[in-house]
Amino acid sequence: MLAQILPWYAHAAQRTAAAPAQALTAPARMGWSTHVGFGPGAEILGRDLRGKRLLELGCGPGHNAAHLAKHHQAQVTGVDLVGLQVRRARSHYGHIDGANFAVGHALHHLQATEQTFDAIYSVFGAVGLVAPELLLAAIARRLNPGGVLAFSVPHPARAGRHPSTDDHARESHVTVSDLIRLPLARWEFDAHRWGAHLSRTGLRITSTVDLRHPRLDPWPTTLLITARTR
Ligand SMILES: C[S@@+](CC[C@H](N)C(=O)[O-])C[C@H]1O[C@@H](n2cnc3c(N)ncnc32)[C@H](O)[C@@H]1O
Repeated sequence: MLAQILPWYAHAAQRTAAAPAQALTAPARMGWSTHVGFGPGAEILGRDLRGKRLLELGCGPGHNAAHLAKHHQAQVTGVDLVGLQVRRARSHYGHIDGANFAVGHALHHLQATEQTFDAIYSVFGAVGLVAPELLLAAIARRLNPGGVLAFSVPHPARAGRHPSTDDHARESHVTVSDLIRLPLARWEFDAHRWGAHLSRTGLRITSTVDLRHPRLDPWPTTLLITARTR
């Protein structure tokens, strides 16, 4: 567990040192990829999000939760493993009605809460970083009927890699700075393997998108998957 937290603590400390903890206006759009303003936005989560209850797993500084609360009037809870990230999210966006932030491991939060959600999402967050057989089952239990799960993960074929051929995690890295990359475990599935895991929990894939910026990326960088309860 500690081995999973430390890279993210270092990542948060580096980001906090680089950007002052001040109130910000909510971003005008939400993103799922490595490039700001590129690819699908909030529509992935549903057409009308007004009053909908959403949960973000691994919210970091809270940009996407802030967008959904401010521009779509959703009730959003962002959860992050690292207290420093939650403190940053609160100082940036704590003034926005409907945006709330909590410290916790995604799996523990899902197991402890009695709330259910219209959508649960993760943008390079906890999905892919926590054993899928545990996390996807916990997500499925907290989704309302017809609820949406959407998540983006680093593309399993980025930079010439190959998706996992089994269900185990692989060693990956968090980039803390130009000089520091810290190891962590990541599940590097292709859409087909995600689909098999999702269907075991009663969720079915409704869309998969391979995101590759046409000018900037030689390889796909992001895999974005949307699923629904049956
Ligand atoms: C790459 S950052 C992405 C942050 C945010 N979603 C964004 O797009 O700006 C990954 C975040 O997931 C958090 N995280 C990693 N494992 C987690 C877990 N098991 N539960 C909750 N948060 C987790 C990290 O602390 C980090 O803030």
